[in-house]
Amino acid sequence: MGFLASRRADQAAEPAVDAFEVVAAQVVDVIATAGIVLDKYNTVLRASPGAIQFGLVQNRRLIHSSLVQLAEQAWNNSGAISKDIELEMGLRRDSVFVHARAAKFGDRYVMLLVDDRTESRKLEETRRDFVANVSHELKTPIGAISLLAEAISGATDDPQTVQKFAESMQKESQRLATIVQELIELSRVQGAKLADTAEEIDLVTVIADAVDRSVVLAEQHQIRLASNATGSVKLFGDYEMLTSAVRNLIENAIVYSEPGGQVGVGLKVIGQVAELAVTDSGIGIPESEQQRIFERFYRVDPSRSRETGGTGLGLSIVKHAAHNHRGEVKLFSKLGVGSTFTIRLPLNGNEENR
Ligand SMILES: Nc1ncnc2c1ncn2[C@@H]1O[C@H](COP(=O)(O)OP(=O)(O)OP(=O)(O)O)[C@@H](O)[C@H]1O
Ligand SMILES: [Mg+2]
Repeated sequence: MGFLASRRADQAAEPAVDAFEVVAAQVVDVIATAGIVLDKYNTVLRASPGAIQFGLVQNRRLIHSSLVQLAEQAWNNSGAISKDIELEMGLRRDSVFVHARAAKFGDRYVMLLVDDRTESRKLEETRRDFVANVSHELKTPIGAISLLAEAISGATDDPQTVQKFAESMQKESQRLATIVQELIELSRVQGAKLADTAEEIDLVTVIADAVDRSVVLAEQHQIRLASNATGSVKLFGDYEMLTSAVRNLIENAIVYSEPGGQVGVGLKVIGQVAELAVTDSGIGIPESEQQRIFERFYRVDPSRSRETGGTGLGLSIVKHAAHNHRGEVKLFSKLGVGSTFTIRLPLNGNEENR
């Protein structure tokens, strides 16, 4: 969609197209980022498809005054200049973060290159939020332990109180250990390259192992836990990662159910897709929350999660584990009736990990 602009009347005296303009035009045409060639009057002579698509140019003019300013600075500068700029785009005036560079090209043109950095900026924000969340989550039990220690040293003459505080302290330190354990697990699944750890595994064994690891918790909560997975369903994957994902789903199913409830783990193969489903008859998840629960640290009811010792990391571990295996997690839930989480994994999509 690049174009060589027709000359304005007041430029008629200048040669029509010079070698510099041709080269600039060719460069702009092949670059992936948004590239624009401007003349002294800030008329756009050439714009790469990226620049047009990005919405930087209209009627051969730069839409954003901040980019015009940068181009003007380039005229007075011998080298390239660059700047991080926030632009407003479209009808909704969405914020877009760009890194723009401008440099004189010959002495009659300015080349402007604009990189969209919105994604990396968002990632950076997520990372910052994550660190803030982690600090907050760690601070709570650490604060509690310190208060309890203080209380214990002030109650040495009352063995019963000491006993009570010591139990609370143990609970808090267990909570701390769980958070740290989950953080390690999450960073493992997030950074994992499946090719390094993948082997042929059997999903029936994965489920059996995940159920085994959850039996004690089920008993504690008086939940009947059963699985219908038999035979063998093989795929290429990371055994520990998938087992921990299924275990996370089973643990949720147990702790978000009332005593006397049931949790079922199922496995079926539909076409080339394996479906591991964990179903409970528990409290359910409101529709409005169903998207968000996969976010790190997100909990529907923080006070209840505190009771259950939850951190809000379990489902993000599950989501990443499924994505690492080119799969997905589906959720069906009805408030007060129960939930089914299904991990869907392609059986033949992992060939290149061999
Ligand atoms: N089976 C379920 N039934 C009802 N609510 C659920 C279920 N599974 C998850 N949730 C909701 O989703 C939230 C997020 O779950 P997630 O497993 O990520 O965190 P968590 O269980 O609170 O903590 P943890 O990191 O220890 O697993 C939970 O706090 C809970 O509100
Ligand atoms: Mg959980």
